[in-house]
Amino acid sequence: MAFAKISQVAHYAPEQIITNEDLAQVMDTSDEWISSRTGIKERHISKTESTGDLATEVARQLLEKAGISADELDFIIIATMTPDSMMPSTAARVQAKIGAHKAFAYDLTAACSGFVFALSTAEKFISSGTYRKGLVIGSETMSKSLDWSDRSTAVLFGDGAGGVLLEASDQKHFLAENLNSDGSRGECLTYGQTGLISPFSIQEEPDVFLKMDGRAVFDFAIRDVAKSIKQTIEKSPISADELDYLLLHQANIRILDKMARKIGVDRDKLPANMMKYGNTSAASIPILLSECVEEGFIHLDGSQNILLSGFGGGLTWGTLIVTI
Ligand code: ACO
Repeated sequence: MAFAKISQVAHYAPEQIITNEDLAQVMDTSDEWISSRTGIKERHISKTESTGDLATEVARQLLEKAGISADELDFIIIATMTPDSMMPSTAARVQAKIGAHKAFAYDLTAACSGFVFALSTAEKFISSGTYRKGLVIGSETMSKSLDWSDRSTAVLFGDGAGGVLLEASDQKHFLAENLNSDGSRGECLTYGQTGLISPFSIQEEPDVFLKMDGRAVFDFAIRDVAKSIKQTIEKSPISADELDYLLLHQANIRILDKMARKIGVDRDKLPANMMKYGNTSAASIPILLSECVEEGFIHLDGSQNILLSGFGGGLTWGTLIVTI
């Protein structure tokens, strides 16, 4: 029986930092509005690097930390809603850049749940026994998805990438999961519509920028995501008390405060870094995981139980509990 384990983590963000004060210079907003409603103080915004460039940096770090060559990789999955192109995929671009000749590579799109969905998928590849090593990376240049004249969304997002090396193990590390979608509520969070443009079709003006009904997404997160977290804990062999940390998608600090109360865990178990990154969609959970390892909260020695939970466009939401 094959099992999968997270053996390395890494993250990377573009150098340029845009603070709330910087935003207030270019749009009608304030640090007070943004930080009191979301917790966000600043975000990284790419000047030149693409989603693929950010992911490549994470991939290189993961290989270096593990001391393995790119040739050893069986697969690369990039979770992203801001790919460099639909074809080739961002994952194929990363595969070429790092020279992972034998790896199959593809993108997975599930908005802010993308990393959790991708990690769940990758775990199945490894536990099938067919594949032994792969990269799962969340990478986003959310800055290109935004209508910068719309203050209600432009202040919320940032660019960055984070990821893990997943390897075969003889012990069970993925303890429980719960993945969900509800397309009937998809219209409250949209981005990148494509219109019909053939000479034989009725032309539609595509709505290209990100749009969000923030209140509806907030309520969805508190209700449905809390339920998913509770169900995953119930399905797992451990209790809520045995969770060391709960790494939730970093959209809004108030969601974390409410979630901790709703699921009945100590607020200190829900680390936050949206203050520094904003909402980086599929990259937010692996960036947070990597920072927790860097800062010494998470040890990567197989002794801790961590819950990962993402939620966003689709609607999509999902939770994993892993021993790490
Ligand atoms: N600066 C100043 N004022 C603003 C700004 C801004 N940047 N943006 C909006 N406002 C104004 C609005 O115009 C409105 O003014 P009005 O009352 O005069 O009409 C007022 O502030 C209140 O706006 P609301 O939208 O009601 O603010 P709310 O308290 O709901 O907070 C927020 C908005 C932060 C977006 C919140 O709803 C939220 O965080 N939602 C969840 C988002 C989320 O979790 N997304 C995750 C998924 S993302 C993904 O999948 C890609």
